[in-house]
Amino acid sequence: MSAPATDLSAAGAPATPSGRRQILVTSALPYANGQIHIGHLVEYIQTDIWVRTLRMHGHEIYYVGADDTHGTPVMLRAETEGLTPQQLIARVWQEHKRDFDSFGVSFDNYYSTDSEENRVLSESVYLALKEAGFIETRDIEQAYDPVKNMFLPDRFIKGECPKCGAKDQYGDSCEVCGSTYAPTDLKNPYSVVSGATPVRKTSTHYFFRLSDPRCEDFLRGWVSGLAQPEATNKMREWLGDAGESKLADWDISRDAPYFGFEIPGAPGKYFYVWLDAPVGYYASFKNLCEKRGIDFGAWVKPGSKTEQYHFIGKDILYFHTLFWPAMLQFSGHRTPTNVFAHGFLTVDGAKMSKSRGTFITAESYITTGLNPEWLRYYFAAKLNSTMEDLDLNLEDFQARVNSDLVGKYINIASRAAGFLIKRFEGRVQDSAMQHPLLVQLREAIPQIAAHYEAREYGRALRHTMELADAVNGYVDTAKPWEQAKDPANAVALHETCSVSLEAFRLLSLALKPVLPTLAENVESFLSIAPLTWADAAKPLMSAQPINAYKHLMTRVDPKQIDALLAANRNSLQATEAPAASADAGKKAKEAKKASTESETPDTISIDDFAKIDLRVALIVDCNVVEGSDKLLQLTLDVGEGKTRNVFSGIRSAYQPEDLKGKLTVMVANLAPRKMKFGLSEGMVLAASSADEKAEPGLYILEPHSGAKPGMRVR
Ligand code: MSP
Ligand code: ZN
Repeated sequence: MSAPATDLSAAGAPATPSGRRQILVTSALPYANGQIHIGHLVEYIQTDIWVRTLRMHGHEIYYVGADDTHGTPVMLRAETEGLTPQQLIARVWQEHKRDFDSFGVSFDNYYSTDSEENRVLSESVYLALKEAGFIETRDIEQAYDPVKNMFLPDRFIKGECPKCGAKDQYGDSCEVCGSTYAPTDLKNPYSVVSGATPVRKTSTHYFFRLSDPRCEDFLRGWVSGLAQPEATNKMREWLGDAGESKLADWDISRDAPYFGFEIPGAPGKYFYVWLDAPVGYYASFKNLCEKRGIDFGAWVKPGSKTEQYHFIGKDILYFHTLFWPAMLQFSGHRTPTNVFAHGFLTVDGAKMSKSRGTFITAESYITTGLNPEWLRYYFAAKLNSTMEDLDLNLEDFQARVNSDLVGKYINIASRAAGFLIKRFEGRVQDSAMQHPLLVQLREAIPQIAAHYEAREYGRALRHTMELADAVNGYVDTAKPWEQAKDPANAVALHETCSVSLEAFRLLSLALKPVLPTLAENVESFLSIAPLTWADAAKPLMSAQPINAYKHLMTRVDPKQIDALLAANRNSLQATEAPAASADAGKKAKEAKKASTESETPDTISIDDFAKIDLRVALIVDCNVVEGSDKLLQLTLDVGEGKTRNVFSGIRSAYQPEDLKGKLTVMVANLAPRKMKFGLSEGMVLAASSADEKAEPGLYILEPHSGAKPGMRVR
């Protein structure tokens, strides 16, 4: 049992004399209560590229994942949908698996935390920790729903902000005034589940004693092995100075009703989802080992020579660098070799948003007909080994895919292949294979492979595109289209095409971890075996003619991006990008919230509809908003004896004077929203086409004459 080795991956150090490493890799297990979206895909694509890179070295590497199925949200959602939790998670598993397959995420095993393997492993980890004196019980008081008869996690309680009085705020912070407080500070709290007023109730909970000095000692050593300095710094912050032991004990139990595993010897108590979730990595791997005859015990025992890496988002660092290693260490297992955290995805500079259509699901991307390898390429171009956030800029996405992939790379093949097939029976000129340009490319391949392994994908791709530039420069100078005009130049033409095509093979090799499907098509076009890093040194041969060129990749059409946004846009509400100064932690939290946002069901009940307070409003005043070309500021009379201020994104369709004195319809009970220009106290309704680019136009609603301000619309 030792602290993690220093970043073996960066050095590429072989673990065995033969140089063949044994590596277990995971991505975080996505919650089974939501769809896979492009934010998730950052992580699965990042991990997949790394795994493919190492497979191409011939190492024994296993990539496992699973759905994270347990907890209150899944339990409640199943209930709402009239399903058992097992039925719900079975359906979501199919959806998640489908999404991963379509984006080429090559799990060796994709499993579920609600499995027999996971129950057995979670129990044994727990019992070992108990045996070693790390488990303790304590009575704690918590909010309880007296109607639903269940304890309420914080996010299931809402109420009025103690500072500004805004309604329907969560128990930790107010979205209107931004203040933070404890759930007990909320005024008029209510249970989101039943609407009842929560009461305080005491119950016995099980704790993992992280405050035990053995944990602190161990974790201090563990810190020094982390690959990312930012992660080490965070850990030091959490640990405090030596002897200070800032670590709080960790509450690992939840009371029934709860969807999860019951704790052995503790009827009615269940493992908190975060206890069995990371164990789910091992459960998935164990399931794979059973199928493939791998010795699971040898991989997970203390001192194992195998390597173990976890790719995660920065929001769940705490769980993976404190809880998980401590759980493993003190339950008699090896500890992770390293944890690799990435930053959060924004779209066009802002948090993903349903109203803008940038909360893009994996499924919508595929059904809109976009090529998944475009997104793999774009994410890879933006990814490095740090925890920095990354932005998907949709214009840059089109530009980069079109200019790099199609313009620089694919064109090399399409230009060379025609002549080679027509004039030279599809056979390369063997003597051309030692051309200095090709020697340069072959020498670059190991460097590119090393960049991938160090998780510097952006660097790997920049290097690759520089080489593509060099190849295009060579073709432009040689001018095969001129050479082809004079039969006397046949040998020179043959050389040009052969060099270009071999260069194309090498560029395809460099891109293979990122573009696996394209690489496969290239392999069949060139009539070669699946490319590995060692193949850099094995040029094309005249003995093996190539096949006719078939189109390998199309350009991104801007219409596809519009359609993608339209497919994901499901509400019209004036929104502005969050202030650029929002700190990273807050952003992570916001993005986190977005990632767990539930989807809109196909139908709603009349009770759901009744929650929306629609009112006839008189537009008393209307003005443009200094500094915004999207918004109009409306002063509305909804019969309350005072007016309301509402910002609305209808500037493109109306002049202020068009609206003054008119009646319209507003949502009167929408939580007030603090915007850059002031507080917006509601929303006016407007009609627009699903595809606003193709069919622009915004039309606000107006009641028939006779309606009075304040009348309810229902
Ligand atoms: N279920 C937990 C993980 C348990 S691991 C034992 C969880 N699930 S999640 O579905 O919310 O997130 C899964 C992974 O996707 C996490 O690593 C998370 O950081 C990542 N991402 C979710 N939204 C993301 C972005 N917008 N951007 C980048 N990564 C994001 O957390
Ligand atoms: Zn407030």
